[in-house]
Amino acid sequence: MALLEIQKAGAPILKQICAPIHRVDAKIRKMLDDMANTMYEANGVGLAAPQIDVPLRAVVIDVGDEAGLIELINPTILYREGTAIDSEGCLSIPNIFGEVERAEKVTVEFMNRRGKKQRLTGEGLLARCIQHELDHLDGVLFIDIARSLRQGDAK
Ligand code: CO
Repeated sequence: MALLEIQKAGAPILKQICAPIHRVDAKIRKMLDDMANTMYEANGVGLAAPQIDVPLRAVVIDVGDEAGLIELINPTILYREGTAIDSEGCLSIPNIFGEVERAEKVTVEFMNRRGKKQRLTGEGLLARCIQHELDHLDGVLFIDIARSLRQGDAK
């Protein structure tokens, strides 16, 4: 597994609308492996393909709960419930944190690494992370939608 360079804010790819993945092949599975490796190495809870300079609709998430590593290919949010405001950061925007309003609970439909359609419902941090990572696929960064921003520590 390779460790990939994480693109930082200002890189044009982070403002791009990413393209759907039409065929989940060995190349895509390797990209997912590399993304997970890169995310864990950076102590992140999520990473989207444009952050590793690939304009495709794929994200990896691991919020450290029993669900473990979650890989979402061509994800779309089907349902949103409630709202919650909490602190966010991003591996592409080091040392900047901000308060972002998100849905409290979301259900997402996606393809897994075998090309099979699946659904996942997440609440709290997982729901927040899903929404943050899916925004990356449409060129939206949390600093674009945050209510307030600050430098320094996560909390
Ligand atoms: Co991010």
